Amino acid sequence: MIDGKTKTCALLGNPVEHTLSPIIHNTLAQRCQINMVYIPFLVEGSQLRQAVEGARALNMLGLNVTVPHKSAVCPFLSEIDKEASYIGAVNTLVSTPEGFKGYNTDLTGLHRALLSEGIQLSGEEIILLGAGGAARAAAFLCALRGASQVYLLNRSQEKAEAVAREVNQKAERDCIRAMELDGWKQLPAKKYLVIQGTSVGLAPHTEEAVIEDKAFYELVHTGYDLVYRPAETKFMRLVNEAGGKAFNGLKMLLYQGVEAFELWNNTKVREEDAYFCYEQMKK
Ligand code: ATR
Repeated sequence: MIDGKTKTCALLGNPVEHTLSPIIHNTLAQRCQINMVYIPFLVEGSQLRQAVEGARALNMLGLNVTVPHKSAVCPFLSEIDKEASYIGAVNTLVSTPEGFKGYNTDLTGLHRALLSEGIQLSGEEIILLGAGGAARAAAFLCALRGASQVYLLNRSQEKAEAVAREVNQKAERDCIRAMELDGWKQLPAKKYLVIQGTSVGLAPHTEEAVIEDKAFYELVHTGYDLVYRPAETKFMRLVNEAGGKAFNGLKMLLYQGVEAFELWNNTKVREEDAYFCYEQMKK
């Protein structure tokens, strides 16, 4: 029930029609018995500053920010969490006395999703496919959480090199190595964790995988696709067919929400409540 004590949170994005975030937060609020509501708002870039200032004026608890505002919103914040500042993008704003503080729970949410599937990054040799926004965040995560080596394979090797340089420098590591897409042919023949961070395979292009050669999938012990629509991508099918374990990115979406909810409400969500939420998202 909404009453005089109800706290409010919102999503600012464009478009927002297909977002699952209201399901995540309103379900969590109910399960955790927290008096909070979450609403999606379609916001044009030209209105972003007013939207953030408006949320402050309305005494909102926090915001999520999604495409295309994740970097553009940074100048309107009073503070940015250190890891989010490396990425230069935030997806969660938390109200503080000074203003909104920005966090990137896409990063921490991906880590929590991997751990929930029993996938470690620390000490791992990882093949990361892609060098766009999603893959770049995953590259930061791997470097910041102790991966021993990351082979960053991308169609444009130049882009892969730029991401590798930036991540190695900011994370003060030397673990990311850029390669062209068929660079896997030069790698030692053993099993790797592979994170699929390209946009290939996203609905409606569900019959495509960024690497189609079946020999590649012999190198994969676990394949984590950041894509979650469709629920089973061609990349995942190819991993399964070669005997590896495959996961889609829906849990990353779940846990970026769980982490945001925890930051706003200064609470810890129980695994059973996160799991209940996950089941609602799949409906
Ligand atoms: P996102 O924000 O989802 O990461 P993006 O920044 O547009 O999207 O990045 C898309 C990624 O998918 C890039 O790594 C892109 O490779 P390039 O950097 O070479 O463009 C990759 N990608 C998209 N279509 C591809 C295709 N048909 N084959 C191989 N890689 C592709």
